[in-house]
Amino acid sequence: MSAIIEDIIARKVFNNRGEETIEVDVITTNGFGRAAAPAGKSRGKAEMVYYPQGGVDQALKKIDELIAPELVGLNADFQEEIDGTLHDVDGSTNFKLIGGNTAFAISLANAEAAANSHGFLLFQFLGGSTANALPYPLGNTISGGQHTRGKTPDIQEFLALPHGADSFLEAATANAQIHRRIADTLRKKDKLFSGGKSDEGAWIANIGDLNALEILATACEEVGNEMDFECGMGIDVAASSLWKGKKKAYVYEREGKKRDAGEQLEFILELIKKYHLVYVEDPFHEEDYESFAEITKKVKECLICGDDLFTTNNERLNQGLKLGAANAIIIKVNQIGTLTDALETIENAKRNAYTLVIAHRSGDTCDWHIAHLAVALKCPIIKTGIVEGARIAKINELIRVEHFLGDRARMAELKLF
Ligand code: PGA
Ligand code: ZN
Repeated sequence: MSAIIEDIIARKVFNNRGEETIEVDVITTNGFGRAAAPAGKSRGKAEMVYYPQGGVDQALKKIDELIAPELVGLNADFQEEIDGTLHDVDGSTNFKLIGGNTAFAISLANAEAAANSHGFLLFQFLGGSTANALPYPLGNTISGGQHTRGKTPDIQEFLALPHGADSFLEAATANAQIHRRIADTLRKKDKLFSGGKSDEGAWIANIGDLNALEILATACEEVGNEMDFECGMGIDVAASSLWKGKKKAYVYEREGKKRDAGEQLEFILELIKKYHLVYVEDPFHEEDYESFAEITKKVKECLICGDDLFTTNNERLNQGLKLGAANAIIIKVNQIGTLTDALETIENAKRNAYTLVIAHRSGDTCDWHIAHLAVALKCPIIKTGIVEGARIAKINELIRVEHFLGDRARMAELKLF
């Protein structure tokens, strides 16, 4: 079976926010792959530039004029060569000529085309015969921060993690029930609750951080009791959005509070203790490696995860490793551009026993590739929402993978404590 690239076709499509994005088809002699790029709203400063000047239209031109002529004739099996070619054509350190999202869509479509050329599913092709572990779904239930407007929590995401589930389907079921139960509570507490949801499908409500945590805690406990396994909870503080450099403080607007780095540390530690949080993402802003290291030292039973801190960038991870900043890392391939770049970061994180959390973006499409990457690359957690089309595309794909694996399927090893 030949995986020689015969054509690259790119087009403009839309994400769940109705924003323009890029979709790429890679056609080989015997196969086909298609991938579309997502987009973040609370982006890390160190992320790649998504598109060249001129946006998606310019990116399409770059593919036709510069990229396709270089890739046609190459073998899709050699992902490193494909991704290296994208870097060579671009020539910058942040993909500003062709766009990081352009690189992402080509890179993922290529991986898919290679798998398809040999008659494999993507997770089999990338992960081999030992790839049979399903990730635990980390699901957004209540939105705040930059993902909302108006009187909502200051913290960006209130997350459920059903880490006691025996199967992916059970875990996804628990998350859906927690999500539903939270709406019931919000309806009772606030007559004006409209049932509005954010881009990630999490509820938008006129409540503060502590209220949101209480409501989530109750829902996790009730559903956990009914389903007879542990449903943990966590938060994504997305603290870079709260950090005001000039004031040297995290500004919690709704709460009307400012916290300097020391106060922020105390506050987050209190939340971890009071709500038994098993997961905290970006508790400090993206340049404060020291505070990340401090909190990581202080907690024993909680994942401290870097998203904006690392931006899936191996150099930034190395900086974190030197100091002991965080014990978990978000993997968003489009933060860094290509699959090969992400794999370098993933391998480094694994060598250093960081927990891998592969993640969607708030602006996303029905592209399901991260579901396969989670299984192939043995990520014990996937953060991809609970409801909303772009989230369900990934959840349902994992249900299919679990079904396909049958008796061989098991849940990933997730060391929380
Ligand atoms: P983004 O945020 O996709 O809007 O950047 C999600 C996150 O911070 O995890
Ligand atoms: Zn985040």
